[in-house]
Amino acid sequence: MNTAYFATCARGLEPLLARELTTLTAQQVEIGRGGVAFVGDRSLLYRSCLWLRTAIRVLQPVLKAEILSADELYDAVRSVDWAQWMTPEQTLAVDCNLRDSALTHSQYAARRVKDAICDQFRERTGRRPRVDTEHPMIALNLHVAHNHAILSLDGAWVSLHKRGYRPIQTIAPLNEALAAGLLLHTGWNGSTPLVDPLCGSGTLAIEGAWIAVNRAPGLTRKWFPFQAWPDFDRSMWNALRDEARAAVAKQLSAPIVGSDIRADVIELAQRNARAAGMGHLLQWSRCDVRAARPPCATPGLVICNPPYGERIGEEKELACLYQGIGEVARSHWPGWRWAVFTSNHRLARLIDLPIVRKTPFFNGSLECMLWEFQT
Ligand SMILES: C[S@@+](CC[C@H](N)C(=O)[O-])C[C@H]1O[C@@H](n2cnc3c(N)ncnc32)[C@H](O)[C@@H]1O
Repeated sequence: MNTAYFATCARGLEPLLARELTTLTAQQVEIGRGGVAFVGDRSLLYRSCLWLRTAIRVLQPVLKAEILSADELYDAVRSVDWAQWMTPEQTLAVDCNLRDSALTHSQYAARRVKDAICDQFRERTGRRPRVDTEHPMIALNLHVAHNHAILSLDGAWVSLHKRGYRPIQTIAPLNEALAAGLLLHTGWNGSTPLVDPLCGSGTLAIEGAWIAVNRAPGLTRKWFPFQAWPDFDRSMWNALRDEARAAVAKQLSAPIVGSDIRADVIELAQRNARAAGMGHLLQWSRCDVRAARPPCATPGLVICNPPYGERIGEEKELACLYQGIGEVARSHWPGWRWAVFTSNHRLARLIDLPIVRKTPFFNGSLECMLWEFQT
């Protein structure tokens, strides 16, 4: 049986997410703001949570209503027969985001949703679900924009970008889903070399390695809330996971290399790569980007996100770095494509290489641009 779903993502990634969904054989794929609507069967829901690299959540809407107050929200949620989705013995959590609506307190709105469900169960059975925001069995997402509310079962709960290989945070690490999206956007597919010469915690190189060896990003995750849904098909899920495990290639077709000026950061990247199961495949070194040289004769992709210079005074210091990136690329990397992700247009222009294209993406709330240059 086919069901309507909505996968959410960071703004800018929608076309890439739509492409990923089409590859997974989703139907009626439609790009929206911050996500993509699609239709498919249960296997597609499981494969989406397992395989999507650019998604944050995969939602299954169960209620759509126009609401102007918390009481109207409560009544609308009460009108759903919750016994079809859960039992009072299961744990519950509600996440909420509101935009341009009469309701303005997301925590209060989430509580009213929870109250409506618990009150319905209490009246009908004398028992009610317990709230567990850490590992809920039934996770719900309430999205209200312009007073139009959509309440959905959330197949992921913990954001899908949290792959589990990067427990320790460095200064300004790139979100994993965004890193994968940037790589997919360049068209890089693992068949040519990949270099990140300002690699920080190694996110771009590690996501690149997972793309190159065809490793499903959701394989590390032990639990998805859809495993507690009444229609959960355990044998289908196990078969899809086995298939995904078997699909992982043992070797890279081309080298993937990360370097950074800081030795401590390189150690961290190495640790993260090992946690991602890619430690034996990636090469790391400590090096100033201005001294970086191609790891092999065949040209490929250099991708990086240098510091943006958000703090006062920093931009001046960074001008040398961005100019240096342009100089080293021009002098030593003939035939390579350079993709530089930054929020700072003035600094990006200092790279001064022929621009292939510029594409906007959001890094959290910061509007950034991926600048693609050809040397
Ligand atoms: C914004 S961070 C990169 C974050 C990385 N993409 C991640 O996901 O963790 C920028 C990195 O550039 C490095 N860096 C700054 N100047 C450098 C230089 N001249 N050569 C090489 N790396 C440099 C910093 O040490 C820092 O790790």
